[in-house]
Amino acid sequence: MPAADRLRCVVLGALCLTLFVLLGCERQPAPTDGGGTTRPAAATGSAANEAAGGGKPVLIGHFASMTGSEATFGQSTDAGIRLAVKEANAAGGIMGRKIELKTYDDQGKPQEAGTAVTRLITSDKVVAVLGEVASSLSLAGGRVCQQYGVPMITPSSTNPAVTRTGDMVFRVCYTDPFQGEVCARFAREQLKAQTAATLYDQQQAYSKGLNDYFKKSFTELGGTITTEQAYSGGDQDYSAQLTTLRATQPDVLFLPGYYTDVANIALQVRKLGITVPLLGGDGWDSDKLAKIGGTAIEGAYYANHYAPDEQRPEVQEFIKRFQGEFKGEVPDGMAATGYDAALILFDALRRTPSLEGKALAKAIGETKDFHGVTGTISIDPDRNAKKPCLIVQVKNGQTTFVASYMPK
Ligand code: PHE
Repeated sequence: MPAADRLRCVVLGALCLTLFVLLGCERQPAPTDGGGTTRPAAATGSAANEAAGGGKPVLIGHFASMTGSEATFGQSTDAGIRLAVKEANAAGGIMGRKIELKTYDDQGKPQEAGTAVTRLITSDKVVAVLGEVASSLSLAGGRVCQQYGVPMITPSSTNPAVTRTGDMVFRVCYTDPFQGEVCARFAREQLKAQTAATLYDQQQAYSKGLNDYFKKSFTELGGTITTEQAYSGGDQDYSAQLTTLRATQPDVLFLPGYYTDVANIALQVRKLGITVPLLGGDGWDSDKLAKIGGTAIEGAYYANHYAPDEQRPEVQEFIKRFQGEFKGEVPDGMAATGYDAALILFDALRRTPSLEGKALAKAIGETKDFHGVTGTISIDPDRNAKKPCLIVQVKNGQTTFVASYMPK
C-alpha cells in the first residue's frame, strides 16, 4: 500500500475511533455511588459541569410548585429529575455535553406557571421544559411551550386536555379516563360498592375531570352515584357538603382532589360519623396526606403511578439510588414520574439530529418501550403514554401496593 493511502487509512481509522468513543457516551445513566448528599436547592446550575463537559451544557427547564399547598408535588418531582440529571452527567452527559437543570417555583398558581415557562424559554433559552404535576398548571405552561415551539413533557398531569394543547406537549403518565375507570372498577369489584358519593374541587381541571370519568365508569359498571358535591381548593369547612352526602348513605366516598384538601376532608368525614371507605386518585400522593389525615385517612385507597413496595427491580433499584442521594427519604410517585420524564427527555436528546424544537419533539414522540420506574413507556400519536395504573392503600401511614390494572 502506498504511503499516502496508508496515511489515509490511519486518519480514517482515528476518525472512526473518535466517533465510536463519542457514541459510547450515549449509554444509559449509571447508578450513582449513593454518597449521602443533601437535596440541592432549586434553580442551581453547575459551573463544574461546564468545565468538565465538552462545549456548553444542554439547558433544561422545570416549572414546579416548590411552595404552596401542593408543595410536595414540585419538591418530589424536582428531586427525581435532579437524580436523573446527576446520573446522566456522571455517565458522560449527552454527546459529551453536560445537562443543566433550571427550576422555577410557580407556587401552584396558573399565572405563575405561565410566567415561569416564559422566562425559561425566552431568557434562559432552555431546549425543553419538564412539568407540571397539577393539570391546570400544565395547561397554563403548555400553552407557552406550544406558542414558542419548545417541547414540554409533563411527568404526571393526567387530564386529557393537557396534551391536546398541541404537538409540543407530551406526557409520560396514564390519563384520567383510565384512572377513573380503575377507581370505579376497584370500587365495584373489590369494595363491592353499589353506590358512591363524590366530593371534588371545582377549580381544578384534574379534579373535575376525574370526577366525571369515575362517574361514567361507575355507572357503566352498574353502580349508582348518590350525589356529587363540590368545593374550592383551600376550603376549611366541608360540613355542608358532607352532611348532604351522609344523608344519601353511599357505600364509598370518592375524593378526586389534592392531598391537603383530601386530608382535611377525611378528618371532617370521620368527625361526622361517616365510616365508609374513602377512595381517590393520584392527587393524594404525598407523605403529608397521612401526616395531616392521621387515623382518618388510614385504610383509604387511591390510584397511583407507583408504589414503593412494588417488587419490580426497576422500582427497588430506583428507591436505593434515591435514598442514597436524599438521606434515606422514600420517594413518592412524583419523584418516580419526574425521574422517568427526565430519562425520556435525555433519551430523545441522544436521538435527535438537532436541539431545535420540532426535531426534538419528533424524537420524544418516537419513544418506544422505554423501561421506566413507573412502567414501560411508549408515546402514542396523541402524545400520551399507555401505562398500568395501581391501586394503593394507606397502611400505618405508608403507601402500600394493592393491585395493578393494565390499560386495554
Ligand atoms: N394527576 C394529577 C393532575 O393531573 C397530578 C398528580 C400526579 C398528583 C401524581 C399527584 C401525583 O393534576
